[in-house]
Formats: sequence, C-alpha cells, structure tokens
Amino acid sequence: MLILGIESSCDETAAAVVEDGRRILSDVVASQVAVHTPYGGVVPEIASRKHVEAILPVIERALAEAGLESGELDAVAVAQGPGLVGALLVGLSAAKAMAYGLGKPLIAVSHLEGHIHAAFLGREPMDKYMVCLVASGGHTALYEVDPECRSRLLGTTRDDAAGEAFDKVAKLLGLGYPGGVIIDGLAEKGDPRAIPFPKAHLGKDSLEFSFSGLKTAVANFVRRFGPAPGPGEPGPFRLEDVVAGFQEAVVDVLVDKTMKAAEICVVSDVAVVGGVAANRRLRQRMGEEAGRRGLMLHLPLPRYCTDNGAMIAAAAYSVWKRSGFCLDPLDLDARSRWLD
Ligand code: KG4
Ligand code: ZN
Repeated sequence: MLILGIESSCDETAAAVVEDGRRILSDVVASQVAVHTPYGGVVPEIASRKHVEAILPVIERALAEAGLESGELDAVAVAQGPGLVGALLVGLSAAKAMAYGLGKPLIAVSHLEGHIHAAFLGREPMDKYMVCLVASGGHTALYEVDPECRSRLLGTTRDDAAGEAFDKVAKLLGLGYPGGVIIDGLAEKGDPRAIPFPKAHLGKDSLEFSFSGLKTAVANFVRRFGPAPGPGEPGPFRLEDVVAGFQEAVVDVLVDKTMKAAEICVVSDVAVVGGVAANRRLRQRMGEEAGRRGLMLHLPLPRYCTDNGAMIAAAAYSVWKRSGFCLDPLDLDARSRWLD
C-alpha cells in the first residue's frame, strides 16, 4: 500500500511516500525557517505564499526519490488540521487535485495523529495500549493510544504549548527563531539547577499543562536582574543557566505528567513525539525515568519529531486499515482546530 503524505500546517512544506505505514521510500521537507527568521516567528500570510511556491516541487521530488510515477500511488493523504488555515489549504488543495486527477482515494488526517505515528516510522507496528505525549509548537497533550492507533485525549495545555514556550523564551532573551533548537544547544553549557524556575503541576493527578507562568517568570527574572548577556558573555547572570533552568522546568513537567498518565492508564509503553521530542534533555530524562519504571519508551528519530509528510502517510495507513478505502469527500475543508 503506497501512500503519498502531504503536510503544510505551519512552516514546513513536506511530502513523503510511505509503504504500509512504516517503510519510508522518500521524505522531502522544504523548511521556511530562513524566511520567517527576520520576523522572530512564523508570519501566516508569508507561510501560505511559500507553501504555494514549494508544494508542487516538493511532491515531485518525493515521487522521484521514491522512484515512482504518481499513477502507482494507492492513495493521497493530507494533514487537514489543526494548523494555520491558509497554510493547510495549500496542502489540502494539492492533495484533492492529485486524488481527483489520479482517481485515487483521498485520506485526510489530523496533524496530531500524524505526530503520534512518527514514533513507529521504520519500526515494528504498535500492538499494545500506550500513553503518548505530543509536544509541539502548537500543542502539548497526552493521549491514550489503542492497538489500532485510535487516540483518546487525557489532558492538554491550558495556555501555551511547550514548543511555544521555548520559542517565546528564546525571543525574549534575544536568541532568535526557532527557539527550541537554540535553547537545546545553549542549555547544554548551563547549570539546570542554578536558577530554579516555577513548574506548574496543577494538582496531584492533573494531566493538564500550563507554561505561560514559566515564560513570565523568565521575563521577570531578566527584567529584575538586568538585560540578558550574550552567550559566554559576562553579566549579572549566565544566559546559559537561564535557558538550562527554563528547559529543566519544562522537561520536569513533561516527564512527570507522562509517567503519571502511564500509571493511571496502566500501560507498559510510552511514546514522546512532536517537535519538542527532539530536545536532547527531554529524551535523556524520559529515557531515565522510563527505565526506572520498567516502561518501554518510543521516541521518533529527531528528524521525524518535527513536521514531515511521512507521519501523515503513516497515520493515513492506520485509517485505511481500520476502515478500508473510505474516500474522503473532495469538498472537505481545512480545520484550524481539532478538538480531540
Ligand atoms: O511539531 P513541530 O515541528 O510543529 C508543530 O506542530 O508545532 O514543532 C515545532 C516546535 C517549535 O516550537 C520548536 O521550537 C520545537 O518544536 N522544537 C524544539 C526542538 N526542536 C524543535 N524544542 C525543544 N528542543 C528542540 N530540540
Ligand atoms: Zn507538528
């Protein structure tokens, strides 16, 4: 079963061909980072325009790298949401046009379901119940996932997503965009215990998250103790310690709540996915804690943590396996939000 997966929900235009939900035949991602960097974040209107320019070349490259003609595909999959509507519409229009032109089924999936499937790309299929943390720029949520890859929401964030907190803190410290990768690198040189920042646990058994208070705490710290020095520069505090302390507070909460969810759901497996799952400290701490508890931890390779087309094709394969070729109607619309 050969599925072309198309992804355009934020600032990456991506397409991939995946066989049977796991074997990746090609995986092309055109990043818009350089275009948005001068603005310190994603500008939705610019993102849409860049997707329009990139979508067809990216799809053509994905087919060429897989060594396939479009007619050999069995289905076309696309992320329908959540995300920026103008950006989603570009991928959705391309997917609809291809499905219609080729006379192949269109399978529209949730971007978040895609992230969950990234944990099993190139690996054995999942056949147990598990808890999955999705931590990305737009979402931070815990799911219980059944052996057929259907997910049930356990808890989500009340305000900022974890990745959003990384991006906003990097911006307020003058570190630029995208914040997650920059903080990940800089935090390695800092002491995570030098500056303790608040961790919002929101009650003993809560599976909800909140990161806006942490972001404000970092802003207040910098306001109080003076402007942040540059990396390695002298100043009233070390920038490296601030980012390490911030990162540790985020990681502590993510690890703690994921383990709590595993306990509540009585599962033996946990997965951590989404852009923030690329974070080295988070991967290390999740690994340690899962090991201590005898849990099996599933982490996507770092390149499949951030947005890509392969995860969309993989999620579509699960949909197809569950319900056969239910052709999604060609008039379906982009969804900025996805409730569950
Ligand atoms: O999943 P993703 O590519 O897009 C969304 O669905 O939002 O996630 C992007 C987010 C950004 O907020 C980015 O700063 C964060 O993931 N991110 C990281 C790292 N790499 C990407 N956060 C922390 N550490 C990283 N290494
Ligand atoms: Zn994403």
